[in-house]
Amino acid sequence: MKNKDKDMSEIINHLKTFGFVFQSSEIYGGLANTWDYGPLGILLINNIKKKWWKEFITLEENNVGFDSKILLNSKVWQASGHLSNFTDPLIENKINNKRYRADHIYEELTSQNSSLLTKEQLEKWIQENVKEYDGSKTNWTNIRQFNLMFQTAQGIVEDNKNIIYLRPETAQGIFINFNNVQRSMRLKLPFGIGQIGKSFRNEVTPGNFIFRTREFEQMELEYFTYPDQDEKSYKYYVEKSKNFILSLGIKKESIRLRIHEKEELAHYSKGTTDIEFEFPFGWGELMGIANRTDFDLKSHNKISNTELKYFDQEKNESIIPYVIEPSVGVDRLLLAIIVDSFIKEKLENNDERIVMRLNYEMCPYKACVLPLVKKQGEKAKSIFRNLIKKGLDVLYDETGSIGKRYRRQDAIGTYWCITYDYDSEKDDCVTIRHRDTMKQERIKINNIFDYIINKEEK
Ligand code: GAP
Repeated sequence: MKNKDKDMSEIINHLKTFGFVFQSSEIYGGLANTWDYGPLGILLINNIKKKWWKEFITLEENNVGFDSKILLNSKVWQASGHLSNFTDPLIENKINNKRYRADHIYEELTSQNSSLLTKEQLEKWIQENVKEYDGSKTNWTNIRQFNLMFQTAQGIVEDNKNIIYLRPETAQGIFINFNNVQRSMRLKLPFGIGQIGKSFRNEVTPGNFIFRTREFEQMELEYFTYPDQDEKSYKYYVEKSKNFILSLGIKKESIRLRIHEKEELAHYSKGTTDIEFEFPFGWGELMGIANRTDFDLKSHNKISNTELKYFDQEKNESIIPYVIEPSVGVDRLLLAIIVDSFIKEKLENNDERIVMRLNYEMCPYKACVLPLVKKQGEKAKSIFRNLIKKGLDVLYDETGSIGKRYRRQDAIGTYWCITYDYDSEKDDCVTIRHRDTMKQERIKINNIFDYIINKEEK
């Protein structure tokens, strides 16, 4: 089944039932477009982050990790351009009093890129052509540019002086620490600084479950390079980012690369490639790789009066490096992995099973230990305890028929089911069942851990 034919509401229900994602503040009627991650969701998220860190920091000789704050000096957002440029075109229908993204309306109705139009052209097109929308007659306002940064006040007095912003991207925390990190780690160009952390955007139209939310998490790398090597590094990180996404088990046919038109580039970018994913609600951006040039360091140099520069000893000169930035949202990646792996299968006996065909590294639980009958529980539990002591994420389940227990594990993507049965006492063996093939093998209890590790997909 193709992703576009999958039923999003069925997936959302599944994720709630099995402890992946819950509506946030549910007992108070929820808070629109906010979601909490349950025990299964957070295990999957940790696997995603671990993999990103390994690929973009650990395995890259010249890259280091970082962690900056959500709240930064407001001048950061003046320098980065977010105070003046980080806006979405908002249009309101006065008949139903609802607000919409004007660019989204145009793109939905024409399947064309709205960035080629000016604000005035977009406004005119909607006012003249969209007489009914979202189940209502229309009477459109003009377009207003709406700043997406969340404001809050620091300290007790809520006047303008105390206004600060929740970061809309993690990147700026890295740029303003360029000297600190480069000098303390004695880094030589080219090198990267990466971090994982929460970002906030007061989106005009959040939605599509966890695809677009106001609070989300980003994994961003700022790769600093010589200005004349930017194209080479840009190509490298486009390719690397694509391979990273495929390495999470996402299928080749579920993604595509889209190069931004000149007119739609963000204010800081010389070139951007999006990696898009086919969700049930259509193609959407999953990850972006941008050539940010020297825009950010230059702006911070100017506004902060600090020289954020790199001294090249060989050339005996100071330079402002160019920056290549692969950036991806954890929540979106989680949704893509779930959608891609969510499969309904007809079995030989005409039964149906839902199975999450996650790749081994992503599975929240690698295995589940099950006694065939409850009274074998003690023996099965000791196998379970041995496996968790070795650091594997493993479940134990003794409730319900063995068939139903297998289905439950399939539904949450558990890679192996290990069953302790009547013969186990005699032959010191268990049955190990593979999630996807459902094939079973009999192996020695002492060999379970090695078996799992050796069969792990590399
Ligand atoms: N520093 C560059 C930057 O933030 P972006 O394209 O605005 O670029 C990067 O965001 C990634 O962050 C996106 O590709 C997406 O995965 C994620 N993202 C952005 N806005 C989001 C939102 N409102 N909800 C969830 N994820 C979001």
